[in-house]
Amino acid sequence: MKKSLSILCALLCVVVSTRAQQLPVYHDASRSVEERVEAALSRMTLREKIAMLHAQSKFSSPGVPRLGIPEIWTTDGPHGIRPEVLWDEWNQAGWSNDSCTAFPALTCLAATWNPDMAALYGRSIGEEARYRKKDMLLGPGVNIYRTPLNGRNFEYMGEDPYLAARMVVPYVQGVQQNGVAACVKHFALNNQEVNRNTTNVIVDDRTLYEIYLPAFKAAVEQGGAWAIMGSYNLYKNQHACHNRYLLNDILKGEWGFDGVVVSDWGGTHDTAEAVRNGLDMEFGTWTNGLSQGTSNAYDNYYLAAPYLRMIERGEVGTEELDDKVRRILRLACRTVLNPARPYGSLCSEEHAEAARRIGGEGVVLLKNERATLPVDLQRVRKIVVVGENAVKMMTVGGGSSSLKARYELSPLDGIRRYVGDRAEVVYARGYVGDASGEYNGVRTGQQLDDARTPEELIAEAVDAARDADYVIFVGGLNKSARQDCEDSDRAGLELPYGQDEVIGALARVNRNLVVVNISGNAVAMPWIARVPAVVQGWYLGSETGNILASVLFGEVNPSGKLPFTFPARLEDVGAHREGQYPGVARNDGSGITDQRYDEGLFVGYRYADKNRLTPLFPFGHGLSYTTFRYGKPAADRKTMTADETLRIVVPVTNTGAREGAEVVQLYIRDVESSLPRPVKELKGFRKVTLAPGETQEVVFDIDRDALCFFDDARHAWVAEPGRFEAWVASSAADIRGKVVFELK
Ligand code: BGC
Repeated sequence: MKKSLSILCALLCVVVSTRAQQLPVYHDASRSVEERVEAALSRMTLREKIAMLHAQSKFSSPGVPRLGIPEIWTTDGPHGIRPEVLWDEWNQAGWSNDSCTAFPALTCLAATWNPDMAALYGRSIGEEARYRKKDMLLGPGVNIYRTPLNGRNFEYMGEDPYLAARMVVPYVQGVQQNGVAACVKHFALNNQEVNRNTTNVIVDDRTLYEIYLPAFKAAVEQGGAWAIMGSYNLYKNQHACHNRYLLNDILKGEWGFDGVVVSDWGGTHDTAEAVRNGLDMEFGTWTNGLSQGTSNAYDNYYLAAPYLRMIERGEVGTEELDDKVRRILRLACRTVLNPARPYGSLCSEEHAEAARRIGGEGVVLLKNERATLPVDLQRVRKIVVVGENAVKMMTVGGGSSSLKARYELSPLDGIRRYVGDRAEVVYARGYVGDASGEYNGVRTGQQLDDARTPEELIAEAVDAARDADYVIFVGGLNKSARQDCEDSDRAGLELPYGQDEVIGALARVNRNLVVVNISGNAVAMPWIARVPAVVQGWYLGSETGNILASVLFGEVNPSGKLPFTFPARLEDVGAHREGQYPGVARNDGSGITDQRYDEGLFVGYRYADKNRLTPLFPFGHGLSYTTFRYGKPAADRKTMTADETLRIVVPVTNTGAREGAEVVQLYIRDVESSLPRPVKELKGFRKVTLAPGETQEVVFDIDRDALCFFDDARHAWVAEPGRFEAWVASSAADIRGKVVFELK
């Protein structure tokens, strides 16, 4: 018996080991990634290598069919998984299994100030990507909010490099847990949409390193991002997609990035530069990335036949080629060649719940006089909802982040569902903004045309509002061109479509007026003194109506804080007062527009602080239905050295009657410095949930990184000895306590 058992075992071993022998090394997940990469590379022909470097369709690149190395399928990003387009066209493929959960926009995620929400977001969207058989998510976006006119701010994480860096890391990790690469975009200095392909950014190194790069750096070094997307613009007169400084020197050199650099769609312009300056995968060439495109041009891509010819003519060697292919094979091992990756899931109740949680934590209560909010349904008989954004679907439009959501609950429907028969809910349009509802063939199916004049629409709304207990105006921007939309910037800070008049008229007849602003950007509010309650509602995706209703009626206590400043005027923004926005056209026939970032480091609250400007709403601002008292912050020591940490503890108490969460912010002020520094800079934050009457000690550890500036003369981060202050704050304009300390 014993003997026959051991014979059986031996036989089994032979079978198993023959099978293992049959498995090519690059398919064998028990081997190291680098071993697998080298094994695949050594078997590939020159043409197979070249083929991997560029797209074969709008969103995919070929694998190596002969070797069984799969294709890589990419998808937008960053708020949900884009619907399927035709192989070689931007239009819909007409699939019926490609709808998704639309998550709240990244501005909303940033407004949660909660890295756990970023992890939840990344994990959930990664699961959707995986289920939809996508290997690379084209997102998240972390370009810094430099001007409120940038049409794509809604896809980014606000104006502060520290906040964006903290939030991007868990998002990337969450996506990649699924064996799906996050492709962090748009690297770098893509801070506006107008002239996006022709703007040459001129910025000093200090500003580049301190403001525009930290979120990308964190995504790479801490998040371990497997892909980065180059941006459309130029820097130092070279397109960012093949930019020596950004890609070779900084990304792959200083940060040791081992993943792939993906071009933005149509962002590649030159073979020799693309070969030498760090581009690995080319997509969307001969298209504008949005609508037009030349059919079947893939062989003519810069990294296709033209590259092959350069190699064949001996103009370049194959060293760069092998480096690019190694990176793509590494990506393949991490994604398509990873047999252990999970299967993902789509449109699950868990994802709806995730969207609700993220949205609920991201909505910002900007103003709430006389405790106007939450609406107490026990005392309310009639609610009037006014405004186009109460009914308009927002998941369709805005450019490449446009989605085909499985469902999108509008604010009006969310309010109606919540209120049920407890009160009457009346809707009036108020204004007609943009009645269209189509993107790349995805149609909302909504009929929003309305031929009435502005006067007629206002009259209807005012009539309804007169005897209402509450008026909830839901307006703001939308996802059409020149609003919050790719490829164009806004014309100004004002609300469009005469909304200010509508709000003014409503304020005259009803004192319980709530304005819900749906946007990814700051807007002007000339009526602010006359409106008691204002809510920043972002773009909230599938669960919009539920999220807004839960905040308006108090089921959720708001805890979001602004990830960017609402300036009082456009001229209070550095990019507009001192920078060259939108750029100065060269008159040399090149079509290039130069833009100096003359405001330098002073972006967002840094600019307001420097110039003592009072914003409409400061960075980090957000109210709650409860109140918080900050005790005196204390440090565990008076001095620290560069390799020590200093601990600040501040007690925070919920002084109101209901549970709530507060984002406690830590800003550092460098009192003595050889170089000019911002008045203060965000270097820590904690979101704490407190029961009524509860006190928690909030702890911040300050290390050298929090004290450094980038010295461009030395090309190094420097922490200068001297006096510093730690400011504990509830917003950038609401400092609750200070501690002085010294760096030895
Ligand atoms: C956008 C990218 C997007 C790509 C693919 C470009 O127009 O700038 O953000 O990922 O298209 O759709």
